[in-house]
Amino acid sequence: MHDPLVYLNGEFTPLSEAKVPVLDRGFIFGDGVYEVIPIYGGKMFRAKQHMARLFRSLAAIGIPNPYSEDEWMALIGKVTDACPDDTQLVYMQVTRGVAKRAHAFPAEVKPTVFIMTNPYTPPDAEAVNNGVRCVTTEDLRWMRCDIKSVSLLGNVLAAQHAAENGALEAIQFREGFLSEGASSNVWIVRDGTVYGPPKDNRVLEGIRYGLLQELCAACRIPFALKAIARDEVFAADEVLLTSAGREVLAVVSIDGLPVNGGKPGPLFGKLYAAYQDAKRA
Ligand code: PDD
Repeated sequence: MHDPLVYLNGEFTPLSEAKVPVLDRGFIFGDGVYEVIPIYGGKMFRAKQHMARLFRSLAAIGIPNPYSEDEWMALIGKVTDACPDDTQLVYMQVTRGVAKRAHAFPAEVKPTVFIMTNPYTPPDAEAVNNGVRCVTTEDLRWMRCDIKSVSLLGNVLAAQHAAENGALEAIQFREGFLSEGASSNVWIVRDGTVYGPPKDNRVLEGIRYGLLQELCAACRIPFALKAIARDEVFAADEVLLTSAGREVLAVVSIDGLPVNGGKPGPLFGKLYAAYQDAKRA
């Protein structure tokens, strides 16, 4: 069996041997945060932005950051160097640590730190050329979706709803307004402009928020953030989704209704090409 090297609390071990105590607060309470970073051609893509978000997530829930950025990069590098593939998705997780079960933060607890990586295949030609199907669902999550928390039950249930309905992703709405996918950000195109939901507590600010804005600027496509009503999603010229693993994809049907006649649109084509250029840069 494939048994990659991982990092857990100061040690590098095969994944099969990495164990955490059952009283880890990540297991008991979902009390932790995580990050997912793509690697292309052996190089982390947008590493600075991802690490900054990890540090923001840690600060937001009061877990002391156990390492400096350089220390983090050295640990991640050791795990990713042990993987022969030069395209990977690195996963890192920090929980508050192990303590007797009680909700409030324990005193004197040491965070649990875990890093693993997996070989990764970017979206295939079928997904890129034909687009992907989505379904909609009510956003049932808490009000701090800006924190990349491992408490992902709402996201898990939304993703399962998509899976059970033959869709790649569930597009969530809160009180009639677009928030995001179960594990991606969602964008609409209207009259040549790309719109995304405001960066507030209702969405995770994907690293592709900044990236998409840059790609739009490079392609001379206007880009704006605003509250997006459900009707606007269904009336959009194009709908896109972005995430570390999905890069940028065109949504071609939502709840069985076609978007852009059921095929990826022209702005998607430009942004997808620009994204591939950015990966190589
Ligand atoms: N998810 N919104 C949610 C809820 C997400 O979980 C993610 C990413 C995104 C996109 O963020 P980024 O562009 O930084 O990948 C938005 C990761 C990939 C995951 O949970 O596996």
